[in-house]
Formats: sequence, structure tokens, C-alpha cells
Amino acid sequence: MGHLWLIGMMGSGKSTVGRRASGTLGLPFIDTDEAIELSTERTIEDIFAEGEAVFRDLERHVIAVISRLDDHVIATGGGAILDESNLATMTESGTTILLDADIATLTDRLRRSTHRPLLTSAEDLATILDTRAALYSAAADVTVDVTDRSIEDIANEVSTCRTM
Ligand code: S3P
Repeated sequence: MGHLWLIGMMGSGKSTVGRRASGTLGLPFIDTDEAIELSTERTIEDIFAEGEAVFRDLERHVIAVISRLDDHVIATGGGAILDESNLATMTESGTTILLDADIATLTDRLRRSTHRPLLTSAEDLATILDTRAALYSAAADVTVDVTDRSIEDIANEVSTCRTM
């Protein structure tokens, strides 16, 4: 049937929702950031310190490797959609699900985030969302609104995409 690829901004809940949906569906879960950290034995911040391009190459590689596995629920990094080959890989290997959150929700959820190299201020978040909004929509087979909804509710909606 194919993978469920979760895409969306930092703070949209891809990892939490993905874990929950994977439990419901009985599918394994992978977080691409975690896979990158495990395979390189380095942190995302550490890799970003060498340049965003270094991180994006690793991200592209990990997404390509995961796409060839049996079906998984996958939480991608927020910038995975910036790379056209990632978009093709995700589309060819499953369903791409956008967790769509407004700026207020994202700001609130990321208030305590200290480990995201692209985020040093609230303005950064708004700028990134502006730049990416159209890309997220274009990449999504399905869009799930996550504003003011419980993790369980969102994960249930994500799980229904498995039967599509
Ligand atoms: C990024 C999002 C992060 C991580 C990296 C870059 C982005 O993942 O991949 O810091 O470009 O939006 P999360 O979306 O899981 O925070």
C-alpha cells in the first residue's frame, strides 16, 4: 500500500502524531532526523554547523533508503520538501500527508525548542512558513489541519489515509 510520509513545519507534530498513528496501524515508525543522527552518530545541530547543504544531502540519502523499506509511518524534517528528488521519492513510494498548523500554534509549540538550528527567533518561523507554504500544499496528497486538535484525533485522521 505504501508508506505514510508526514510532512509539515517544525512544531506541527509529525513525530508525536507519527508515533501514535504507527501504533494504531501496526506499522513501524521512523523519524528521518533520528535516522540521520543514528547513522552519522552526530546531532542535527552539529551537522548544520558544517552547512545546511551537508544536512540536506544526508536527509536526501536517508529518505531514499527508507523509501525502499517495507511500509512505515515516517516523520520527515520540515525542510524535506525543499528537495525535488525527495518529493518524487515520497510520491512514488506512498502517501504524503501534510500536518497543517497556523503560525500561532507553531510559535506556541516551539517556544521551548532549543535544538532547531534554523530557528533563532519567532520572525524566522514566520519567514520559513511564508517561503514554504506553497511547497507544502503542492507536495501534499492529503492535508490534515492540526490546529486546536488532540494528538489522538489527528493521528486517527492520519491513520485513515492508509486505506486510501
Ligand atoms: C528543519 C526541521 C527539523 C530538522 C532541521 C531542519 C527544517 O526537523 O530537520 O532542523 O528545515 O524545517 P523538524 O521538522 O522535525 O523539527
